[in-house]
Amino acid sequence: MRILERLDELYAIGDRIGHSPEEQRAHDLAAGWFREAGLEVEVDEGGNLVGRVPGGRPGGEREVWTGSHLDTVPSGGRFDGALGVVGGLEAVERLGLPGLGVVVFRDEERGCAGSRARVTSGALPDAFLELHIEQGPRLERADAPLAVVTAIVGYSRQTVTIVGKAGHAGTTPMADRDDALCAAAERVLAIREAALAIPETVATVGTLTVEPGGVNVIPGSVSFTVDVRAPDRERLDELLSAIGLEPGLGVEPAVMDASVVAATCSAIEELGLPGLELASGAGHDAGILAAAGVPCGMVFVRSLNGGVSHSPDEHSSAEDVALAVDALERALRRLSQA
Ligand code: HGY
Ligand code: MN
Ligand code: MN
Repeated sequence: MRILERLDELYAIGDRIGHSPEEQRAHDLAAGWFREAGLEVEVDEGGNLVGRVPGGRPGGEREVWTGSHLDTVPSGGRFDGALGVVGGLEAVERLGLPGLGVVVFRDEERGCAGSRARVTSGALPDAFLELHIEQGPRLERADAPLAVVTAIVGYSRQTVTIVGKAGHAGTTPMADRDDALCAAAERVLAIREAALAIPETVATVGTLTVEPGGVNVIPGSVSFTVDVRAPDRERLDELLSAIGLEPGLGVEPAVMDASVVAATCSAIEELGLPGLELASGAGHDAGILAAAGVPCGMVFVRSLNGGVSHSPDEHSSAEDVALAVDALERALRRLSQA
């Protein structure tokens, strides 16, 4: 299956952190595939790659796009982002309808730099439909291959720095210490308790740095990042405030466009599959475009292995991927003819 072969080719590049040479190699690989498919290729000032079927839409209507991102987290999986690019290209190539585009947004994982740049300085489509692996266990538990996304979580990522007093690990009595790492540990556990107390919110401390970082030195300062998410701005700010972070910051929760959701539900139902609807706990470029007023939607394909993602164990089956691309193709056809 060409899609899986291309995902393997991308995976073989290794980690593709945003704006790294490896991410650029993935963009170059995708640009070659776009040209092979007869698409006109544009690279915009935000470093995003856009492939278009030549010729505009009848009546000069705005374009309809699919696509996603090719950057990854460290030690990520094969499907996050890349499936939306390679699967989106497959659907657009099959359709060959003027006005269809496939976009590769730059540096999605660290805060959607590419899609944010595009919404401030580039022409936008009149609809965007993103195919993405679910990155969670719900479709596997429901024994369903596909779902339509109705909303995308809002999130804020902030850094906390705790300052103590560096000192000698052997000669400083325990009662005299101002150990920054012990204070940070208490703060991290308090963050977990705060998120547990507010329904449907999550908080994650994913990175932590200890200074000066000597085996025999009491930590003088600790910095750690907190990734906070909630389905609505009220709970996002409630949790941010509860853990001593700045409310009002971050990416707004996004509601998917009713007409794009309807077109995608119909496409899935044409395949004889249940039209499951899910909210996304992961952030996506579609959320950035939706916040800019672009009618957006997403198709989720089942994550196997308990839904694990941001891990080499991330997996979807060839059968489910084939169904997802069929559904994407049908939905894009509907949106192009709307
Ligand atoms: O972190 C996320 O939600 C996404 O994978 N960028
Ligand atoms: Mn992603
Ligand atoms: Mn991701």
